[in-house]
Amino acid sequence: MHPRVDAIVREAREALAAARTGADLEQVRVRYLGRQGELTRLLRSLGSLPAAERPLVGAAANEAKRELEAAVDARRADTTAEERRRERAGARLDLTLPGRRPAAGSLHPLTRVHDEIVSIFAGLGFSIAEGPEIESDWFNFEALNIPPEHPARDMQDTFYLTESLLLRTHTSPVQIHYMKAERPPIRIIVPGRVYRRDADITHSPMFHQVEGLAVDRNVTMADLKGTLELFAREMFGPRSKIRFRPSFFPFTEPSAEVDVLCFLCGGDGCRVCKQSGWLEILGSGMVHPQVLRNVGYDPEEMTGWAFGMGIERVAMLKYGIDDIRLFFENDVRFLRQFA
Ligand code: PHE
Repeated sequence: MHPRVDAIVREAREALAAARTGADLEQVRVRYLGRQGELTRLLRSLGSLPAAERPLVGAAANEAKRELEAAVDARRADTTAEERRRERAGARLDLTLPGRRPAAGSLHPLTRVHDEIVSIFAGLGFSIAEGPEIESDWFNFEALNIPPEHPARDMQDTFYLTESLLLRTHTSPVQIHYMKAERPPIRIIVPGRVYRRDADITHSPMFHQVEGLAVDRNVTMADLKGTLELFAREMFGPRSKIRFRPSFFPFTEPSAEVDVLCFLCGGDGCRVCKQSGWLEILGSGMVHPQVLRNVGYDPEEMTGWAFGMGIERVAMLKYGIDDIRLFFENDVRFLRQFA
C-alpha cells in the first residue's frame, strides 16, 4: 500500500472500532467514504500527483475503499445487536416488583344467594324445576285460583304481551306445570325470573324468585315449618329463628308470611328491620284444594305446601344493600365487594 492510504485506513479502522451506535458508524462512513470523505478526496486528487505515482496510489486507494466498505458493513451488524442489548438493559426491569394480577371476575351477589338457596334445598332432597317466563293467563292466574277481578291481574301490575299471554308475575305457575306433568311425591325448588310493573329502590320490573313445592300423602304445615326453620339456620346462621304470620294468597289455605329474626340486631330492633326485630322473607301456605283439583289431584288424598321467596330481597337483607337497582347496574365498584 501507499503510506498516505495506509494512514487513512488505520485511522478509519480505529474510528470504526470506537463506534458504539449506528449513528457513530454513519459518521465514520461519511468521514472516510462519503463524497467529501478522505479517500474520495484522495482519489479525486490523483491528477495532481506525479504521473509515476498515480497508478500505485490509485490502486491502493481503491482497494482501501472496498476494504473499508466491507468493514463498515461488518460493524453495522455488531452495533445494531449492541444497541438492542443496551435498550433492553435501559428498560430497567425490576424483577423484585410484585406482579400485576389480571383482573378476575367474581360471582354476582344474586348468583351467590341463588346458589346458596338452591344448594340448601338440594341437600334436603328437592330437585330443581324450571318453567317458561312467558305464560298464559291460565297458568299464571286462573289455575292458581286467582279470581278475574284480583288486583294482580291489573294492567298496572302485569306486563301483558297479548290479551292472554303475559310475563309471569311469580314462579308459582311452575307448580301447575310440574303437578300436571308429574305425580306425587313431589319435592321441587324453582328458581327463575319474574316480572312486575313496579320500579323503585326496593322493586325492580324484573327480579328473581325461588318457589318451593312439596306434595304427597300426609304432608302437613308442620313439614313446612320444619323445612323453613332448617333453611333459615343454614342461610342466616345456626341461631336464627323464624315466625309465621297469618296471611292470604288465593292459591294457599291457610297462608302464612314467614319472618326471620333480624340477624343484624338479634331482634332488638335496628335500621335493617325497621325497629321490628323481624325480617319478612317469604310467602307460603298449604296448597289450596282448588289448585290441586285444577291439576287433577284429589285433595282428600294428596296435600302439599308451597312457598315463594325473593332472591333480591334475601340478598339485600344478607348484605345490607338498600337499593335494588345496584344489582342490575353492573358497576364493578359494587360487584368487586362480593369477590
Ligand atoms: N307467589 C307468591 C308471590 O309471588 C308467593 C307464594 C308462593 C306464596 C307460594 C305462597 C305460596 O308473592
